[in-house]
Amino acid sequence: MLGVISTTRAFHGKSMGSLSVSGKREFRVPFQPLMPGSRFVPYGDADALEQELEVCDMIGFDIAAFIVEPVQGEAGAIVPPDDYLPRVREICTEWDVVFIADEVQTGMGRTGKLWGVDNWDVAPDIMTMGKAFGGAVIPCGNIVVTERVFHAMFANPYLHTTTFGGNPLATAAAIGALHATLEEDIPGQAAEKGIYLKTRVAAFAAEYPDLFDEVRGIGLLIGMEFVSAEIGYAISSGLFGAGVLVGGTLNNAKTLRLEPPAVISYEQLDEVLTRLEPVLAAVRKEHSAGRLVAH
Ligand SMILES: Cc1ncc(COP(=O)(O)O)c(C=O)c1O
Repeated sequence: MLGVISTTRAFHGKSMGSLSVSGKREFRVPFQPLMPGSRFVPYGDADALEQELEVCDMIGFDIAAFIVEPVQGEAGAIVPPDDYLPRVREICTEWDVVFIADEVQTGMGRTGKLWGVDNWDVAPDIMTMGKAFGGAVIPCGNIVVTERVFHAMFANPYLHTTTFGGNPLATAAAIGALHATLEEDIPGQAAEKGIYLKTRVAAFAAEYPDLFDEVRGIGLLIGMEFVSAEIGYAISSGLFGAGVLVGGTLNNAKTLRLEPPAVISYEQLDEVLTRLEPVLAAVRKEHSAGRLVAH
């Protein structure tokens, strides 16, 4: 059997194939058994990937591909160690395993570079794209593959098709989105505004160490990790009341994501920060009085 290795806490989607390589119990359990052959290694640990490949080789379980997010999005803006993706590239080449970078969330400039992997100068064999790829108006997903990988389709290109694949409206939106992303330097805007936002939020974290565990992220993919899910929930709910939407309360509110569009203005970012401060103060008051409850 051919298998695919993925990472813990990975999120690749909820259709059967992508859910099979997603690493979150809450999403997986109701749909198990999923696609056979999926295995998991801790995210950010290249040694673990190497060991898993050795084990699979030993037991005669062939691995076709390794799929990974350049920066984990849904897991809470987790940036891997700097040598992770370059080592993944080397390991995949050495073991002849296809390296799939899931750029659905990190692509189109979000991390301050056009593609997340560009932060580490790494070229995968397959890149997936979605979300902003359709210009945020038309649903459009895409994969880009090397010629070597695409070669598998040469014998019968109609083996893998879909009714709406290559849809003219969706592809026009995607081409338009790509042009706008480059012309408006969305990656550069995300890089600059990301530093601004992260620095300011980190200053709040220093002021409220009783609430924050960590502020992390890259570009405009920023995670605020709180000391408990109750605090995160209270903050997201307070922000919602103040007209600010944050990501990540579905299953775990401990980490909230700030992922504004890169075209957001500095005035709007300041407005978000201005609205965040009283929410932090109010939650501190509730927290120190022991009044926060689990949801
Ligand atoms: C990295 C990553 N891959 C895949 C997906 C799934 O995309 P879709 O919801 O369009 O299937 C997401 C969605 O959040 C994602 O963050």
